[in-house]
Formats: sequence, C-alpha cells, structure tokens
Amino acid sequence: MKKVNLGCGDRYTQGWVNLDFNSENPDVIPHNLLNSLPFSNEEVDVIYNSHFLEHFSLEDAKKILTECYRVLKKGGVIRIVVPDLESVCREYLYMLDNIDKPENEEKYQWIVMELLDQMVRTEKWGLMNVYWEEIVKKDNKLIIDYVKDRLGIDIRQYYDDNPMSEQSNSLNLTKIKKQLLNWYIGVIKNLFPPAYRKAIVDQTMLGEKHKWMYDKYSLPSLLQTVGFSKIEILNEKTSKIPNFNDDYLDINIDGTAYRKSSIYCEAYK
Ligand SMILES: C[S@@+](CC[C@H](N)C(=O)[O-])C[C@H]1O[C@@H](n2cnc3c(N)ncnc32)[C@H](O)[C@@H]1O
Repeated sequence: MKKVNLGCGDRYTQGWVNLDFNSENPDVIPHNLLNSLPFSNEEVDVIYNSHFLEHFSLEDAKKILTECYRVLKKGGVIRIVVPDLESVCREYLYMLDNIDKPENEEKYQWIVMELLDQMVRTEKWGLMNVYWEEIVKKDNKLIIDYVKDRLGIDIRQYYDDNPMSEQSNSLNLTKIKKQLLNWYIGVIKNLFPPAYRKAIVDQTMLGEKHKWMYDKYSLPSLLQTVGFSKIEILNEKTSKIPNFNDDYLDINIDGTAYRKSSIYCEAYK
C-alpha cells in the first residue's frame, strides 16, 4: 500500500513516503509541493497532510488537492488535518464576552494571537515567540496550560527547542542547522532594498505563515469541488485508513491529540 505524507515536517514515520520542502533527513523526500507531485496517475492509496494546507492560498490549496486527486487510486483516501477556524473563533468570542473575569484577560490576548499572528507575521514565529518568551519567563502557569490545552504543545518544551529563543542554550546539530539557515536567509534578505525585504524574502516563504483557514463546512466543500466524495469530519482517533493510529501521526503515544483544536477530514476518490 503506498501512503504519502505531504509537508510532514518532523512528524514522519516508516511505511510512508514523506515529503517536505527542504528536509535533510534521508527519510524525507525534499520537494516543493507547489509543483506537481512526484507520482504518476493513480499510483497512491493514501494521502495524509497535517497543518499543511493552511500554509497556502485557497487557489494553491485547490491546485495541491487536484494533484492529490490525480495521483490517488480510485477508492484511495485523503486525510487532511488543519487548524479549526470555528474553534478559534468561538474561543475568541467566549473570551471577549467574558473579558471582565481577570483570568480571561491573558487568555484573550493569546486567542487573538492564535487567530491573527499566524496569518500576518513576516518573521518566523512572529509575535507568538515574543509572547511565549514573556509567559515562560514569568512562569505564568495559567496561560501556559491554556496554550497547551489549545495547541497540544507544552510551550516550555517547545521554547527550549526553539533556536530563536534566548533561553535556548543547549545546542545540537538540528539547532545549529536551523540557526545557520536563519542566518543565511537573513543575509539574503538584506540584499534586497528595505521596502521589498518583507514582501519578497521573508522567512514565511518557508511555509510558516498561514494563508487561509478552514472549518467543518469549507474544507469538505473544497474537497467536493476537486472531485472527492464520501467526505467526513472525524477526530484525531478515528480514521478509515487501516491501522492509522499505529503510526502515531494524529495522536501521541499517550493517546492525546498531537494537534488540538483541529479539523480531521477524510474523503475518497
Ligand atoms: C506546520 S508544519 C506541519 C508539519 C507536520 N505535518 C506536523 O503536523 O507537525 C508545515 C510543513 O509544511 C511544509 N511546507 C510548507 N510549504 C511547503 C511547500 N511549498 N512544499 C513542501 N513543504 C511545504 C513546511 O516545510 C512544514 O514542514
């Protein structure tokens, strides 16, 4: 069975063909997924992507899904996981409506950032990085736990692994490579006149910025437009892909969701 993971990042597993922009890991094929997929028509049984599609304009997302449709066998499955626009909007409205409770003020700030910063930032990690730095320094447990609950990421750990953070003092090869890449991009960026820098060569070109968001209505509609059928919204633990949970892509070893506040959608060719 041929299973493909698009934009796998660091979340790849054996038994899958893993593709990402510029991975140096031998288990990941470097490929710009804005180009055609490196498979022939009807060659693939399963396509999976997680927190990938929102990094493209709606037009590009449609092109990518059309490519997925081309390479999938008849009866093949696509599973897409994206941040849930509805969940973040509902949470934002809840916090706004309950802003008079003191504990909600910090949460309100976070949820606005979760909604907007990822869409507009022009630097890697954007304002979220500044915000994390503050709450980790203050050891603000309430908001750290809130972020963990929203994203499924313990930001203390994430922060520690993040080569951009001041507190990140333990170096390993991956961190050094990331730092060198950031430095290289910084040099290239400075070759452009200031007015063009952010627009042309910002680090969001690496796919970090969100360019669109989806909900339980718009994602199925997009899949339907491309030709997919039997479209279903599932959850992190349910899938039509045989033994999907054994690969621990959408769940962690302890069974919790890897990416909380997401939509899990599957469809067939
Ligand atoms: C937010 S990460 C998600 C990684 C992983 N799927 C996960 O859920 O943790 C988005 C991934 O999409 C990749 N990506 C974005 N644009 C891409 C492109 N044009 N071609 C290939 N990969 C791309 C990025 O390199 C990054 O690894």
